[in-house]
Amino acid sequence: MQYHAEFGRLCAALEGAGAFLVVEDAKGRVNVMTIGWAQAGYIWGQPVMTVLVRPSRYTHSLLKTAAGFTVCVPAPGKLAKELAFCGSRSGRDYDKVRACGLKLAEGAEKGLKYVEGCELVYQCRLTGTSELDVRTLPAAEKGRYYPDGDPHTLYFGRIVKAESNR
Ligand SMILES: Cc1cc2nc3c(=O)[nH]c(=O)nc-3n(C[C@H](O)[C@H](O)[C@H](O)COP(=O)(O)O)c2cc1C
Repeated sequence: MQYHAEFGRLCAALEGAGAFLVVEDAKGRVNVMTIGWAQAGYIWGQPVMTVLVRPSRYTHSLLKTAAGFTVCVPAPGKLAKELAFCGSRSGRDYDKVRACGLKLAEGAEKGLKYVEGCELVYQCRLTGTSELDVRTLPAAEKGRYYPDGDPHTLYFGRIVKAESNR
C-alpha cells in the first residue's frame, strides 16, 4: 500500500491503545515497546515515519546501533493486553516478545523485524535523529510531559515498505 493510505487508522491507534515499535540493535537484541507518539509524512523527498522515544527507555539504547525500526498496528481491539504489557514493562527486565507470545517476522531489509498478524506494518530505515528542545515548548506541554526532564529523541525512518492486512 502507499504509506499514507491508512493514515486515519494509524492515528486512531496512536490516540487509542497504541502501536508496537520493534527495534533490533547491531548485536541482534530485539525489543518491543508501545508507542502513542509518531508522525508519518514526506521529508527529504521520501516518505518518513518519525517516532519519539524517551532516553529512559531500553528501546532508546537499542536504537543507538539499530538499522531501523518497524511500527506495527494491531486491528482495533486486538492485542490490547500485549500493547499494555509492552507499554508498562521494560525490555531490561523482560523478554517481551516471549512473555507476550508475539511472533516476529523478517522485514524487507536486514535489522527490520515486525509483529506478525498486525493490521498495518511500516518498515523504516533510520535516516536521522533529533533531540527535542523542551525550552521551545509552551509551558503547558513542558509542565505536563516533561516535569522530570527525559525529553524525547525523534527518530526519522524512511518508510521502505508499508503493508495493510485489512
Ligand atoms: C499507550 C502507550 C503509549 C506510549 N507511547 C510512548 C511513546 O510514544 N514514547 C515513549 O518513549 N514511551 C511511550 N510509552 C511508554 C513505553 O512504552 C514504556 O515506558 C515501555 O515500558 C518502555 O519499554 P522499554 O524500556 O522496553 O523500551 C507509551 C506507553 C503506552 C502504554
